[in-house]
Amino acid sequence: MKNLKNDLFLRALRRETLPVPPIWMMRQAGRYLPEYRQIRATAKSFMDFCRSPELCAQVALQPIDRFAFDAAIVFSDILTIPDAMGCTVNFLQGEGPKFQYPIRDAHDLSKLKKANPAQELRYVMDAVSQTQKALNHRVPLIGFAGSPWTIACYMIEGEGSKTFEAPRAMMYQNPELLKKLLAMLTENIAEYLNAQIQSGADVIMIFDTWGGMLSRDTYQKYSLSYMQKIIESLPADIPTILFTKGGGAWLELMAETGCSALGVDWHTDLADARQRVGHRVALQGNLDPAVLYGNEADIQAAVDSVLAAYQGHPGHIFNLGHGITPGVHPKAVEQMIRAVRHRV
Ligand code: CP3
Repeated sequence: MKNLKNDLFLRALRRETLPVPPIWMMRQAGRYLPEYRQIRATAKSFMDFCRSPELCAQVALQPIDRFAFDAAIVFSDILTIPDAMGCTVNFLQGEGPKFQYPIRDAHDLSKLKKANPAQELRYVMDAVSQTQKALNHRVPLIGFAGSPWTIACYMIEGEGSKTFEAPRAMMYQNPELLKKLLAMLTENIAEYLNAQIQSGADVIMIFDTWGGMLSRDTYQKYSLSYMQKIIESLPADIPTILFTKGGGAWLELMAETGCSALGVDWHTDLADARQRVGHRVALQGNLDPAVLYGNEADIQAAVDSVLAAYQGHPGHIFNLGHGITPGVHPKAVEQMIRAVRHRV
């Protein structure tokens, strides 16, 4: 085990008793930071930016330098995998991701390639190793991927959506095709995450952003079971965080996958969540990201209520309930951090 200067995050994942919870934020490297926008402007497109390991390492360190967060996350995206499988993903200005070759039938599926971490996705592994080098053991580095279900949602719909009708229809109109796609993604994601670990990632997080739109049954069948396979494929000594946005009703099921921690969104009461999962997993969350549009007193009060809900039990990682939004002023993030670190 390498010697980290700050291992608070790893200790919280092991559910050790700590004087203060570690803090990081989903989407901590991003558009709310002027220094991010400056570097982002030098790349032609978002995918080009992701393909530049040096720039990725640079922006991954920005929130660490500015706020002294307790963890860094690799700068990349969950859609690198479908892009490498042959869907060709582009992010259009202000419109989100667009797939040139979405998956609608067996013929589309048959054209998909394996995404090889040593070839097509080599740029992500280089981003991991360069970020680790730049961090120089300051804090642990989180590698990540989307869940099979969440990535499949984009591949089938062909773009972002609020309702994802196409993948939800496929569960009933062509479940065999959906299962084949999910199995293929599971294999690719497992290999991708293992390669990130080999390139230096200390912790793995799985983003299941769209799992919450499923029912309890379909969540188990089309999302959780595949995520469990991925977790089982990872080395036992690498902590794993599972985040299903809107998955608050299923935390007990999620805790049984063998993961180390669950991400909790702001719809879920942290006291209730802790009571239900007990000491089996750590919990990460769950400040409503909108609170960061409030004033210092609003932020202080909301942070206090998150910390009060967790009641100082071991195994709390302070985070937002979802990603920080681009309109937030960085000053609000400073106020949030101060409220966490000065309270306890
Ligand atoms: O700091 C970090 O958290 C690391 C980087 C990161 C990004 N995306 C960078 C990014 C991470 C962990 C992601 C994950 C991701 N990407 C998710 C899961 C997490 C979540 O928020 O639910 C999802 C669903 C995506 C897919 C995605 N990427 C969409 C729909 C979009 C476009 C919408 C938008 O916000 O513009 C992206 C683009 C993207 N990924 C940006 C960043 C910083 C913004 C694009 C830009 O800077 O031009």
